[in-house]
Amino acid sequence: MATKRISIGIIGTGWMGSVHCRAYREVRERFPESGISADLVACADNLPGRAAAEAQRLGIPRSTEDWRELLDDPSIDAVSIATRNDSHAEIAIAAAEAGKHIFCEKPVGRTPEETAAIAAAARRSGVVTFVGFCYRWVPVVSYAAQLAASGRLGRILHYRGVFFAAYGAPPQGFRTWRYVFEQSGYGVLGDLMTHVVDMATLLAGPVSEVSSQKQHVYEQRPEPRLGVDHYALGSDSDPMLPVDNEDSVYAQARLESGATATFEASRVMQTPANEFGFTIYGTEGVASWQFNLLNKLQLYIAGEEPERIGLTTVFAGRHHPNHARFSADLGGGIDYEALQVIGAHQFLSAIAAGKSEAPDFESTLQVARVNAAMARSWDSGRWEQVAAIP
Ligand SMILES: NC(=O)c1ccc[n+]([C@@H]2O[C@H](COP(=O)([O-])OP(=O)(O)OC[C@H]3O[C@@H](n4cnc5c(N)ncnc54)[C@H](O)[C@@H]3O)[C@@H](O)[C@H]2O)c1
Repeated sequence: MATKRISIGIIGTGWMGSVHCRAYREVRERFPESGISADLVACADNLPGRAAAEAQRLGIPRSTEDWRELLDDPSIDAVSIATRNDSHAEIAIAAAEAGKHIFCEKPVGRTPEETAAIAAAARRSGVVTFVGFCYRWVPVVSYAAQLAASGRLGRILHYRGVFFAAYGAPPQGFRTWRYVFEQSGYGVLGDLMTHVVDMATLLAGPVSEVSSQKQHVYEQRPEPRLGVDHYALGSDSDPMLPVDNEDSVYAQARLESGATATFEASRVMQTPANEFGFTIYGTEGVASWQFNLLNKLQLYIAGEEPERIGLTTVFAGRHHPNHARFSADLGGGIDYEALQVIGAHQFLSAIAAGKSEAPDFESTLQVARVNAAMARSWDSGRWEQVAAIP
């Protein structure tokens, strides 16, 4: 089979940019039958020296501090945007206008309005788009989606989604860009609640209305040193800077199907590991998953085995989508970086097919509409309909 080579530029070589680089490089080996290969040709980061170091480490031929050079390069087919949220709109709109296919990290802009502007630019230009809602690609989550869609769980009555992270739990955590509205946009609403809402939409369908509350827990944090990540700690004696976006968001929701839901997200919970997961309650059964037990789905189908009542652990294995590409059936499981390879392959396949597939900018716009309704509900104190963003 002829290999389809797609040349990629990476914009933003911090944590996620590096993850994208590693993922693209592995696609050919893990998905050999697709005949698709990603050539990493250039990377850009405006922190002096960072892109050059990444290029040297991974053998990427070119690096620059100016992402525009990548858009001006006709040999580049697609870009990954893994920069801070405040540059998503400028870069993604310019990339769409330059005809580059785009893999943008969530939340795709600082605010729902920026997400809508980015989605509109991509729609106008017809480029293929993709978004890093990586937990969709967990093999047993794909299996749970199949169970829900096929009716094995019955009619979905209630969905519970949560993402509690600990990165902001220590008050000495540096005030990195995630805590500054100008640089991040919304706080945990964009950072973590987007994952919760995207997952709920995948498993239980679109959200129609929400009632939401937010909490600001820490008013200030230590001034960051150049290049520190959001897990690094300063000290009480460092100069302090204000935090101006929310630490926690909670919501009740109604789904278009008539089901109810609760969504919870926080960056300041003292949880030992990311607590991201869901429980779906249907008239025939229950499915439950947690990120820190990535390779295990808890499942109960009523009446299947009357003598066995309770959740059963289903181990990820070759019967679940893409699992066998990364792990033999020895119970060892796959990890977060494997999810990214599955995502990179999905993006490259969409480019080869010339058609975007969720999670793309259009499905992310649906998530942004839910986020916008939550933010309206903070101010109004009422239930708010999920509606188009003006
Ligand atoms: N899908 C996921 O699981 C996941 C996980 C973490 C982060 N993210 C997303 O990835 C993005 C990056 O997050 P991160 O944790 O890697 O942050 P980071 O701070 O580690 O990296 C961001 C990089 O962008 C660079 N940058 C900022 N503005 C730029 C510009 N105008 N031009 C070029 N480079 C610029 C910075 O110098 C930095 O190297 C965010 O949008 C975040 O929401 C997604």
